[in-house]
Amino acid sequence: MRRIYLDHSATTPLDPRVLDAMAPYFSEIYGNSMAVHHFGREAEHALETARETVARLFNCAPGEIVFTSGGTESDNIALRGLAQHARLTDRPFTIVTSPVEHEAISATARQLRDVLGAALRIVPVDHFGRVDPDDLRATLQNLPANGIALVTLIDTNNEVGSRNPIPALAAIAHEHGALFHTDAVQAAGQFALDVQQLGVDMLSISSHKFYGPKGAGALFVRQGIDLVTSQTGASHEDHRRAGTHNVPGIVGTARALELARAELPETTRRLTALRNRLIEGALERVTDTQLTGHPTDRLPGHASLVFKNVESNLLLMHLDQRGIAASSGSACKVGDPQPSPILEALGYGPEWTRGGLRLTLGHSTTDEDIDAVLAALPDAIAQIRRITAHA
Ligand SMILES: Cc1ncc(COP(=O)(O)O)c(C=O)c1O
Repeated sequence: MRRIYLDHSATTPLDPRVLDAMAPYFSEIYGNSMAVHHFGREAEHALETARETVARLFNCAPGEIVFTSGGTESDNIALRGLAQHARLTDRPFTIVTSPVEHEAISATARQLRDVLGAALRIVPVDHFGRVDPDDLRATLQNLPANGIALVTLIDTNNEVGSRNPIPALAAIAHEHGALFHTDAVQAAGQFALDVQQLGVDMLSISSHKFYGPKGAGALFVRQGIDLVTSQTGASHEDHRRAGTHNVPGIVGTARALELARAELPETTRRLTALRNRLIEGALERVTDTQLTGHPTDRLPGHASLVFKNVESNLLLMHLDQRGIAASSGSACKVGDPQPSPILEALGYGPEWTRGGLRLTLGHSTTDEDIDAVLAALPDAIAQIRRITAHA
């Protein structure tokens, strides 16, 4: 059976050109970047060259890039680092976030509330999953005097693909004396992110989302922001992330980002056209279907739909049987279908919130793949609705 991979928001395959760039750093140039000898200096050179590349692409200084093990760690360093700095300087800490963040943010924020006593404020989202600047302004009223506040809002939503108006939101955070972090894990490699234009203080990325290696990523931290790291150890990454550098992963991150940026206009054009055909075709062919997320201000290759009275996990299994790998976009368990908290936050009723489908396109996606999905989807949905109606 021909297999069609439409889960690029979950992860992407490593680009062979990225693998080529990484290859020498596994067994030829293998020194520890902290060592003073020749081998160490070679590794350090690769590390700092990669840092310069990433900094240039995000329009920041190399010293503002912290290499991490991926999006989850970048998010954790941003939130925990600031919470612990607030604790150390004896200042109240407030986190302002939305109900549609990735768990790397939402679970961390809840834990910081429960363990460190951080105040947690949630700003609502609209039907597309975006934060309205006026709602953020209202949520930021009466912050504690002398405290530290961090607004953390996702750049591009993993489940429904919508983009937040980050420059406007960051500006409002700053007007209220708060710092601004964005989880740009889905956005990096898909949009030309410039941290000066975005106006953010911290930004998380993950390499495996843009054809780079798994277990690698970065956090932009604007100069002057004090983070107290949870991962203590040696002085790597200017004391912001201890642990021997993953030099192949870091080299791969820089190369993947460079390629993504160079190919961005063509990739965006191609994926947007395929995505639009997929969305329009699905809405036309399947009854009781809606597009979730914003119709145009969304990830180029991201199609997210809800089907009334359909369970996502059943649909995913039916599609997999037809050779199509998709996702619900949320962590739903087989046999224990839970409504998607993100779709609930967007205002969808119970007849919709178990039926999310995320089809995310990438380099390998072709017109034939879209045709195959549009042929399989109505049949799969009809079969599920028939079975469920008789259950
Ligand atoms: C928006 C978002 N943030 C964070 C993460 C976690 O990134 P990683 O897999 O690199 O830990 C993901 C991964 O799906 C994501 O989509």
